[in-house]
Amino acid sequence: MAYSRPVERFRIAGEARLDGSVEVAGAKNSVLKLMAASLLAEGTTTLRSVPGILDVSFMAQLLDTLGCTAKVDTDAGTATIAVPGDVRHQCDYELVRKLRASISVLGPLLGRCGRAEVALPGGDNIGSRGLNMHVAGLESMGAKVHIEHGFVVAEAPSGLQGAEVWLDFPSVGATETIMMAAVLASGTTVIENAAREPEIVDIASMLTEMGAQIEGAGTPRIAVTGVDRLQAVDHVVVPDRIVAGTWALAAAITRGDILVRNGRAEHLELPLDKLHRAGADITVLDDGFRVRMDDRPHAVDAVTLPFPGFPTDLQAFMITLNAVSDGAAMVTENLFEGRFTFAQELTRLGAHVQTDGHHAAIRGVERLSGAPVVATDTRAGAALVLAGLVAEGETRVSAAHHVHRGYTDFAGNLRRLGADVVVEPDDTELYWT
Ligand code: EPU
Repeated sequence: MAYSRPVERFRIAGEARLDGSVEVAGAKNSVLKLMAASLLAEGTTTLRSVPGILDVSFMAQLLDTLGCTAKVDTDAGTATIAVPGDVRHQCDYELVRKLRASISVLGPLLGRCGRAEVALPGGDNIGSRGLNMHVAGLESMGAKVHIEHGFVVAEAPSGLQGAEVWLDFPSVGATETIMMAAVLASGTTVIENAAREPEIVDIASMLTEMGAQIEGAGTPRIAVTGVDRLQAVDHVVVPDRIVAGTWALAAAITRGDILVRNGRAEHLELPLDKLHRAGADITVLDDGFRVRMDDRPHAVDAVTLPFPGFPTDLQAFMITLNAVSDGAAMVTENLFEGRFTFAQELTRLGAHVQTDGHHAAIRGVERLSGAPVVATDTRAGAALVLAGLVAEGETRVSAAHHVHRGYTDFAGNLRRLGADVVVEPDDTELYWT
């Protein structure tokens, strides 16, 4: 994917300390799939606690092109999706290329229409991001799948049949595709080595409210028994553990004190344990948690793995924390090989990071130094903004749209926590592929 001339950037005044409280909305990586799951039932689905992020509006536009009427009210935090009796089964390339999560409509469309044509997705520049497990799962349920003119075309004219599907790896996306395709299939589908992320549990909960029969979501074995029809429901999206984790790490990085309202500590056990080892004080409350860091953090190692392992989506923040820590640490990335391009940007701010294959070795420095940098994906962008907060002088983070894709009013929240951060027009000419 090529961008020219990103329109906005963050401008960050350094040497900040974050102090105060933030509210976490529903999870990006759940709401996008819940919006796709609404395709499974005729009628109006209402989602609540919907985050005000760019990806939600892309998904709403995608659903509109399929014949639905999707309305997002960012002030109320709701999305209503009116799904007609007949939905179209072909997804437009222009929208799909902006949003990796658009592949989530593949399972629901195939289950509901017996045919789906979804352009091969774009999204973050973080690695190869295959679809082989999605495809193999659907094929074992009787679908014929091929790639044609840049589209994944899946067909099951006489419907999908239940099957036993073994995933080579607990892929979040493949687990969701198969689960959503299986709810209207005939018979029982068993997904072995399924992903266990809280977002999978949330999607299974909404599907169950719609009338689906699903057992084992949140475990490595999910069993789905197909039903004839589902009904539209009203559902509250699970809080975003990655956004909550971002604020937790932000408190530690800036040696601040943040109350993360609506953050679920039970979804962040490993990251919070790492922060505790780094020297942070963590208090779990009824409606969230609080992270306070008084002194310079100690360096801590981390290895990204599927849930309940350390989330790849918090890896960039962990590198940033280590970059200003007292000591040296190793961060290992096991999911997305492209995510270390972030480390190169961080070195522009004076961080000592050396990468070799899956590993990043970081030696903490007392202070970073402000510079212009570029966001390469949602998490990298947010981490660079946080790094700018603990740099001397001013930092500018270009390609701000990456951050807008996953964080509701990131700059506004930072200002409310006491930082001097603005989003402004960007005149930097940028080209990358
Ligand atoms: N993979 C394959 N073949 C497949 C499916 C996955 O090789 O058929 C590989 C991927 O290339 C990757 C690994 O398996 O190396 C993990 O992929 P997974 O399917 O688990 O991830 P995803 O569904 O593509 C979601 C989130 C990511 C998050 C990962 C891991 C969404 C829209 N995206 O991606 O979120 O990092 O799970 O937890 O849900 C983000 O929010 O910034 C983000 C990138």
